[in-house]
Amino acid sequence: MLKLGVIASGHGSNFQAIINAIENKELDAKIEVLITDNPDAYSIQRAKKHSIPIELIERKNFPTRIAFDEKIISTLKSYSIDLVVLAGYMRLLKSQKWFSEFPIRIINIHPALLPSFPGTHAQKDAFEYGVKISGCTVHFVDEGLDTGPIIAQRSVDISDCVSEEEVKKKILVQEHHLYKSVIKMFTKGSFRMEGRRVVYTQD
Ligand code: GAR
Repeated sequence: MLKLGVIASGHGSNFQAIINAIENKELDAKIEVLITDNPDAYSIQRAKKHSIPIELIERKNFPTRIAFDEKIISTLKSYSIDLVVLAGYMRLLKSQKWFSEFPIRIINIHPALLPSFPGTHAQKDAFEYGVKISGCTVHFVDEGLDTGPIIAQRSVDISDCVSEEEVKKKILVQEHHLYKSVIKMFTKGSFRMEGRRVVYTQD
């Protein structure tokens, strides 16, 4: 069984979609811990409801970003996590230890078709640019802002959306499906890198 460590800063609908997929037996995985940097994150309520251990690790309690990151890394290690799942975690990974401790084992979901519209306002940026097709991307995380190697993408037709909110909602539905299907891939096979290309082999 794949041991997941989820890191979320906010609402946690992707976190909930993973919880549901595990409870419905669609995913042979277990969420060992929710780590959050935000004491007001609604994700905390979700974890409580499903008896998932919660670790609140706040930036303000650490002298440096590296010390903060290394506390999160050591917490993940203490739960023997196989796969680190960022679900609405709005910070860059600053310590190099992330990548030595969890090589090609940290994933993130982003609400746009990367490399278009990286950053924290992807849906707004796509809507205002006027693109007709956007979508979502699951990628391995590196030290950059949404720059890591792409694992999977799903396109979403946003040509009928009249607001940024509508774009967000329409893409979020697909994020939930995509994230679940990528985590499932980790339970059934392995990934390797060929340059920037992510190659998957099923067991
Ligand atoms: C999601 O749309 C996710 O793709 C986005 O934050 C939202 C979190 O929603 N992440 C990023 O923009 C990362 N650059 P959720 O808390 O309901 O899962």
